[in-house]
Amino acid sequence: MGGVAKIPAAALWLLLGVVVALGVAATPAQAFRRKANHYDFVITETNVTRLCQEKTILTVNGQFPGPTIHARQGDVVFVNVHNRGRKNITLHWHGVDQPRNPWFDGPEFITQCPIQPGANFTYRIVFSNEEGTLWWHAHSDFDRATVHGAIVVRPKLGSAYPYPEPHRDIPIILGEWWNVNVEHLLEETMRAGGDFNISDANTINGQPGDLFPCSRKGTFRVPVERGRTYMLRVINAGLTNDMFFAVAGHNLTVVGSDGHYLKPFTVGHIMIAAGQTMNVLLHADRAANASSRYYMAARTFATNMQIPVNNSTATAVLEYSDAPPSAGPPAALPDLPAVDDLAAATAYTARLRSLATDGHPVDVPTRVDERMLVTISVNALPCATCEGPINGTRFAASLNNVSFVAPAVDILDAYYSSVRGVYEPDFPDRPPLFYNFTAPDPADELLFTKRGTKVKVVEYGAVVEVVFQGTALGAEPHPMHLHGFAFYAVGRGFGNFDESKDPATYNLVDPPRQNTVSVPAGGWAAIRFRATNPGVWFMHCHFDRHTVWGMDTVFIVKNGKTPDTQMLPRPPTMPKC
Ligand code: C2O
Ligand code: CU
Repeated sequence: MGGVAKIPAAALWLLLGVVVALGVAATPAQAFRRKANHYDFVITETNVTRLCQEKTILTVNGQFPGPTIHARQGDVVFVNVHNRGRKNITLHWHGVDQPRNPWFDGPEFITQCPIQPGANFTYRIVFSNEEGTLWWHAHSDFDRATVHGAIVVRPKLGSAYPYPEPHRDIPIILGEWWNVNVEHLLEETMRAGGDFNISDANTINGQPGDLFPCSRKGTFRVPVERGRTYMLRVINAGLTNDMFFAVAGHNLTVVGSDGHYLKPFTVGHIMIAAGQTMNVLLHADRAANASSRYYMAARTFATNMQIPVNNSTATAVLEYSDAPPSAGPPAALPDLPAVDDLAAATAYTARLRSLATDGHPVDVPTRVDERMLVTISVNALPCATCEGPINGTRFAASLNNVSFVAPAVDILDAYYSSVRGVYEPDFPDRPPLFYNFTAPDPADELLFTKRGTKVKVVEYGAVVEVVFQGTALGAEPHPMHLHGFAFYAVGRGFGNFDESKDPATYNLVDPPRQNTVSVPAGGWAAIRFRATNPGVWFMHCHFDRHTVWGMDTVFIVKNGKTPDTQMLPRPPTMPKC
């Protein structure tokens, strides 16, 4: 820092100007960046070709995946979204806590009315203690299938990473591709459910890779120099599946997840639940006489083989700079666990621990004010014209047997303006019925659920513990995501949660700080957070079929007593319903 002070101020500004100008010219993604902290996102319909077919998809600035947002810890970033598509849309900044600022969080009919075609809306995104990788995505219908991108949060200027600075950042966005239009996919998901969810390919940065027809030309390539270390910022943007990811010939050192640092550990593969991010260091350390091209690969992780899954493998290519241009594709795929390798997924997740050092301390609440046990189920609702789990039903999903219904105006505004009749403040703290949740073949009457717009209201500063309990109704892992908070994932286990025994197994020393926890199929996961962010915050499964079926609820965190513990006033620019 001393060195900087010696440069005359004018020269420093000149230098900054050059750096900014270079930054803008360097990548097309930044062409839409007016100033360092201001982006223009234009929602447009764009023609792309995948799997030998041309298709129109919704994109931001014509890019799929969309542009990367760059920030530093504690920044404020503005994104002006211009909706030039044909349908309503909203955007969400996944993992950004947005202290006191729920207005710009994004989920449609939860914190805002959607941005209509022809309209624009500027999001003010307030970063606080997040550092690492987050992401942004549409939060309306199934639009996020193609409307998503990375958020890279670096340390504050002058602060260091808790590991040697990597040579370059490489966002690796895992996704899914459908040949059908996603609007059609949504309709079928509501009418008939499951089978329509199988995507036609998994993707890495929008590309299925070499193993798919007509795909080799587009395969994502990562150029690396021998001897350097790279930061892979892996994001699972998929709509329906958790994923395994690995790079042939290279180990991965995991150093962060969901915008918070972890104790580093080295693995051959990672498991990343839908909605999560993993920061992994890759050392390009293969000897010069070794091969110069290696496959990166991503494959679905699913446990319930009765539910059809996409079991294909997406690939990208890691390419050393000395690779001869004529060399063919890499020789071998990395070792990835089998699609249903539950043991591999469980062992990986158990290794996630907060860094917990002086510079990156943990602050795990030890006392709990609000204790919730929340069952997660896939259910049925009567529907004469549907093809649901049994005749005359459609698929639904629930938390504590409440299947969430989004209102027609947003909950945040109803709360702020005291409009009655939009939601009920009585989301239950306990399941309505205790039974053997995880025993196979549940009775038919357990299948049915009730609809409601029920929210959980908590006092400012209360410590909330939620134990998510998976059930045999929809025996799949559920990636449960909370807006507005990074929680501590304090416990995880199989079978029914036992209130007398399981809390003793919690990790209250260095649990990972995440915004999406993977609740194992036939098991439970416990999270804790301090409700110090006043506002209205969505909580839902990050499998989109479950989200639209109602596996959601909302936390309303009341204002505290002092002005700096209260929600910011309603911005005058909020879209109207
Ligand atoms: Cu990644 Cu409610 O979202
Ligand atoms: Cu789910």
